[in-house]
Amino acid sequence: MAKLSVNINKVATLRNSRGGNIPDVIQVAKDCEIFGADGITVHPRPDERHIRYDDVYELKSELKVEFNIEGYPSSGFMDLVLKVRPHQVTLVPDPPEALTSSAGWDTKQNVGFLTDIVGVLTEAGIRSSIFVGTDLEVIEYAAKTGTDRVELYTEPYASSYSIVPAVAVAPFVEAGKFARELGLGLNAGHDLNLNNLAYFKQNIPWLDEVSIGHALISDALYMGLQKTIEAYKKCLI
Ligand code: PXP
Repeated sequence: MAKLSVNINKVATLRNSRGGNIPDVIQVAKDCEIFGADGITVHPRPDERHIRYDDVYELKSELKVEFNIEGYPSSGFMDLVLKVRPHQVTLVPDPPEALTSSAGWDTKQNVGFLTDIVGVLTEAGIRSSIFVGTDLEVIEYAAKTGTDRVELYTEPYASSYSIVPAVAVAPFVEAGKFARELGLGLNAGHDLNLNNLAYFKQNIPWLDEVSIGHALISDALYMGLQKTIEAYKKCLI
């Protein structure tokens, strides 16, 4: 079974829109854990417009499940993760002002930089994952950095799933197989939802973990958080 890491950034966005502490981000994370989430993901950005650095410290002390921090490895981000020491850090190439991540790394171009960052994380005992597209050369260069895992950027799968699912998933199966041959663990995320997730997992059964935020938190408005997490977990069997 692949692990479900719930990205709670949207919960922090809702809280920040009013000031105060409703909804309580830490309590939501703990409830996700109780409802069966295997992990919690956050994406702190330099402007702290959703998850704040303070949240990250508090989550580390409150959570029992796997904690994944994703973001661009700026010096501020690296200071934070080295202090917090989550189970996993996912390296994302997006600039600070980006609305959301919209592409994986050019690992060939950034191989030196990423190798240094992965080295620092490995030394600190933190599992590293590099956010990538399905280009095989990109995955080959990700492996050269010494990273433990790659996370496949699944927006292109999600956006073409409704046309021909088999065509949509094919490059991800190929990329996933190549990553496995290179000894890399495999995560996936972005725009996964209750319609497209089960098919993705069925076609890539060796998938280690997905991180899902936007659709899951939106579904929870209708279904409630517990039933939503249970429904996503069923897709990952
Ligand atoms: N993985 C990465 C690297 C991301 O940046 C995001 C969005 O924050 C996700 C996964 C989750 O995407 P979504 O919110 O569309 O589920």
